[in-house]
Amino acid sequence: MKRINSVAVSHEEATRQKAIIKRLKHRLEEKQLTYYITTFGCQMNAHDSEMIKGILEDIGYREASQELEADFVIYNTCAVRENAEQRVYGRIGHLKSIKRKKPDMMIALCGCMMQQPTVIQELKKKHKHIDLVFGTHNLYKLAELLETRLDSGSTVYDIWEAHKEIVEDLPSIRKHKFKASVNIMYGCNNFCTYCIVPYVRGRERSRHPEDILKEVRDLVVDGVVEIVLLGQNVNSYGTGLDMPMTFAELIQEVEKIDGLRRIRFMTPHPKDLSDDLIEVMADSQKICHHVHLPIQSGSSRLLKAMNRHYTKESYLDLVKRIKARIPEVAITTDIIIGFPTETEADNDDTIDVIHQVEYNTAYTFIYSKRTGTPAANMEDQVPEAIVKERFNKILEAMDIVSLKNSEKHVGNTYELLVEEVNHKKADWVSGRLKDNHLVHIQGDESLIGTFVNVKITGSKTYYLVGEII
Ligand code: SAH
Ligand code: SF4
Ligand code: F3S
Repeated sequence: MKRINSVAVSHEEATRQKAIIKRLKHRLEEKQLTYYITTFGCQMNAHDSEMIKGILEDIGYREASQELEADFVIYNTCAVRENAEQRVYGRIGHLKSIKRKKPDMMIALCGCMMQQPTVIQELKKKHKHIDLVFGTHNLYKLAELLETRLDSGSTVYDIWEAHKEIVEDLPSIRKHKFKASVNIMYGCNNFCTYCIVPYVRGRERSRHPEDILKEVRDLVVDGVVEIVLLGQNVNSYGTGLDMPMTFAELIQEVEKIDGLRRIRFMTPHPKDLSDDLIEVMADSQKICHHVHLPIQSGSSRLLKAMNRHYTKESYLDLVKRIKARIPEVAITTDIIIGFPTETEADNDDTIDVIHQVEYNTAYTFIYSKRTGTPAANMEDQVPEAIVKERFNKILEAMDIVSLKNSEKHVGNTYELLVEEVNHKKADWVSGRLKDNHLVHIQGDESLIGTFVNVKITGSKTYYLVGEII
């Protein structure tokens, strides 16, 4: 066992879980069971769901095409905003009547929502039809929990307050053959005052570089050409390791892996994005020239109240430094509208930043009060109607700068990684440029997972149209 940040890394635990998986496979073989998993929330959760799929498929479960046909229904939940939670409650309420008709159906809830004691109380009181409940720290035990549920016949609740160990080498099923996410760290130490993540995901823990590099190498051998390195604040990667390593150093090691063509990462916190990283990105052949740099608000006063540790000016200065070294960089962001005490002038500051940075895209969120976070107790929560108005103003500003960004691409040629068949036209495919711009081109399924050179012929606010050259 290796120790990281006083968290043990256990390859032995994976071996133990694999033995349980084998036992369950034998036990359930004849039933030909199916599963259906719905993921709420961020890329971390999506990646956790890939692990859940991996475990279930190793047990012998096959993916059902629809939730209602599945023997095992899983919701991997998110707690970041209230509406994500309401959607989960709505869906589990609906499953109650289904389960009455299909008593053998199993339902599992996991993920960030489950780390909140109030949610567990509510489930125990009102939703007794759930079979399995686990949190964010013990997902690797899914097979063991399932076995306990089968043996005991009653609901299994297993929620841990903190991580005990990082378990390596568990199976995982990816959405795409050519593209994969790799966690480099877990948890968050930043405690932005609106955010529930540090409470539900625990303290920051970095994976050992050797484990990360091995995972990436294995993925490349398996056909992966693009990877996304994931963490809530990738810039603080490595601080607690026995042999500390910076994110800029880690990403250079990843770059050396032959066969890997593109490296992305998410999310760098603006307060910690180092000049070293900018240099490494500028010199790199593989690191995509795209930085997702959540601003949250353009108002320095609100940024302070949010505990973000940067100001409007220092953020703009950072963007300037990035653009100076990487002129063709795409910058995207997250914005919260309606944080307590927000005024029209604060919103104008955000709009000003949008125009100055010229973001390619922004994820815009209406502030959601999260019980247990400091902001939930702040006075002057902003009335809904005003928030909606401000939200629309932000969208208008974003539409203007996004279109401008798209238009800049027209007439140029780029390398496109084709990802999927177009959702609307069957004889078209869609992919991403290095700067993460979405491009649609005419072509068929055979192009998926390949790189093609395209000339951009048209632009819309949020996508480009091109043709293969
Ligand atoms: N670690 C990442 C963000 C993770 S959460 C970072 O710091 O950038 C993803 C996004 O959800 C955040 O960037 C923020 O914009 C939004 N968010 C988090 N808490 C929220 C809340 N209480 N209400 C509305 N949006 C929120
Ligand atoms: Fe939440 Fe802030 Fe941590 Fe991001 S950095 S996960 S917004 S507390
Ligand atoms: Fe992600 Fe939501 Fe959890 S944003 S970390 S799934 S609370």
